[in-house]
Amino acid sequence: MKILVSGGTGLLGQGFLRVLREKGEHEVRCLVRRTSPVERLEGLELAYGDAGDAGSMVRALRGTNAFVHVAGVQYTPEVLEAMRRAGLERLVIVSSTSAHSRFEFRSAPRLVNEALLPGSGLRWTVVRPSMIYGSELDHNMHKLLRFLDRSPVFPLFGSGENLWQPVYYEDLARGLYAALTKPGTDGQIYDLPGPRPLTYLDLVRTAADTLDKKARIVRIPAEPVRRALLVAERIGLPMPVSSEQVLRLREDKAYPYEKARRELGYTPRAFKEGIALEAGRLREIGLVR
Ligand SMILES: NC(=O)c1ccc[n+]([C@@H]2O[C@H](COP(=O)([O-])OP(=O)(O)OC[C@H]3O[C@@H](n4cnc5c(N)ncnc54)[C@H](OP(=O)(O)O)[C@@H]3O)[C@@H](O)[C@H]2O)c1
Repeated sequence: MKILVSGGTGLLGQGFLRVLREKGEHEVRCLVRRTSPVERLEGLELAYGDAGDAGSMVRALRGTNAFVHVAGVQYTPEVLEAMRRAGLERLVIVSSTSAHSRFEFRSAPRLVNEALLPGSGLRWTVVRPSMIYGSELDHNMHKLLRFLDRSPVFPLFGSGENLWQPVYYEDLARGLYAALTKPGTDGQIYDLPGPRPLTYLDLVRTAADTLDKKARIVRIPAEPVRRALLVAERIGLPMPVSSEQVLRLREDKAYPYEKARRELGYTPRAFKEGIALEAGRLREIGLVR
């Protein structure tokens, strides 16, 4: 089978391309933009285009058998149009566990696009990652590790009791591969989170332990911060975090994944293991002590 992959220069995409290379069972072509860092895709066939432009994807899809669209569920309408025009049937699309959020501003953009798939006439599968971490492209846990390494105090918004379930990018990439290749995945949606929920406080402490640091937690009440951010947003001041992000801190991000375990053989590693790998990676390049 020949597979078109979008998002190949990104965090999950790089992990997925590595799995494809290791398995060696399929040919690969990558959809890239003119501005993409294509040096990350050495040796791979490239097709220039944009996920927001169906015409460019039609050209990229010609001669392939499946499309693994990692670059964003928001492009589903263009992807479906391109699939139809290229006469392709098999689509695996990466969405997000944010689809479960009780906040509509998080869930609706995912759900609205996922809802286009059942009527598409395609053989589709959706995977929904939780927060992804790992590799030099990680913007989540690498930031946390570097902060913990440098700062004697850690400011914590809210109680820290809310749950998180980050997934190591390589485990997620293997889950995505299984969603593409295992029989019986057509028309299915799989949540692919980390192995178990952790409170944010546990997450920070586990990361600090990995660095042999003791995190001195300074609690900051979330609500006054959110209100201040709302005011700043109303008058157009640029802020490092949004009021919506602070609001979402109250929400537990815990996701059962029994279906993925059963049907995909999905077994993500413990956060403690994944974060230790990343601390090691940062230590090697001198970014943490
Ligand atoms: N990161 C997370 O914690 C997280 C959590 C849940 C779900 N997800 C979803 O998982 C997927 C992968 O996330 P990620 O963290 O690996 O993303 P990422 O590192 O930010 O990479 C995004 C990738 O998509 C490509 N891309 C973006 N817009 C494009 C367009 N218009 N046309 C073609 N390619 C485009 C980028 O290409 P360039 O190199 O050209 O920029 C890049 O390869 C995304 O759909 C994301 O929404 C991510």
